[in-house]
Amino acid sequence: MIVAIDGPSGTGKSSTSKAVAAKLGLSYLDTGAQYRAITWWMISNGVDVTDADAIASAAGKPSIVSGTDPSHPTITVDGVDASGPIREQDVTAKVSAVSAVPEVRARITELQRSIAAGAENGIVVEGRDIGTTVLPDADLKIFLTASPEARAARRSGELKGADVHATREALIKRDAADSSRKTSPLAKADDAVEVDTTDLTLQQVIECVVTLVEEKR
Ligand code: C5P
Repeated sequence: MIVAIDGPSGTGKSSTSKAVAAKLGLSYLDTGAQYRAITWWMISNGVDVTDADAIASAAGKPSIVSGTDPSHPTITVDGVDASGPIREQDVTAKVSAVSAVPEVRARITELQRSIAAGAENGIVVEGRDIGTTVLPDADLKIFLTASPEARAARRSGELKGADVHATREALIKRDAADSSRKTSPLAKADDAVEVDTTDLTLQQVIECVVTLVEEKR
C-alpha cells in the first residue's frame, strides 16, 4: 500500500501523514525534509544558493538518510542529525530555489523511489509531486488544501507566535515558487482525492484519510 499525500504548506500534511502511518502500521517519508536537508548542506558548505549551476554541481555530494518510523522520523546528512537545523528560517527561505534545480530533484526522487520500494509493509509519502512524478502508480493519492488564512494561522502556531501576516506572505511566496517551477511543480494529480482541510480539525482530516486508505485495502 503506497499512499501519496501532496499539497501546499500548512495544510496539515505532516501531522496527518505521520498519524495515518502510525495508525495503519505503515512507514512514513517526509520528502520536504529531504529537500530541506540538501538545502541546509548547501548553506553550511558555502554553496551559492542563488546559482543554479553551483547547486547542480553539488547536488550529488551530501549523503542523506531518512528514518521512516512515523513516531520518530529522522534525517541525517553525512551522518549528522539534521532534524533541528532543517527547520530554521534561513533554510525555509532558500529551499524553494534549491528544490527547483533539476539535478537536485533527480537525485532526491531516486532516493524517494528506493525508500518506497523497500517499505515492505507499505508507506505514506508526503510532499509536493509524489502523486504526479515520484510515485505515479501509488495506490491512493490525496491532495490536501486549505485557505491561505488557515494555513498561515496553523504555521504561526507551530512557529510559536510568529507574526501571522508575515507568515502568510512567506507561505504564499514559497507556494508560488513551488507551483511555477519547470521540473515537477506542486500539483494535484488527475486521480488524486482533494480534501479541503480549512474547516476540519486535524483529527477529522486523519479520520478522513484513514477511511480512504481502508477503502483501498
Ligand atoms: O514540506 P516542507 O514545507 O518541509 O517542504 C519544504 C520545501 O521542499 C517545499 O517548499 C518545496 O520547495 C520542497 N519540496 C519539493 N518537493 C517535495 C517536497 C518538498 O519541492 N516533494
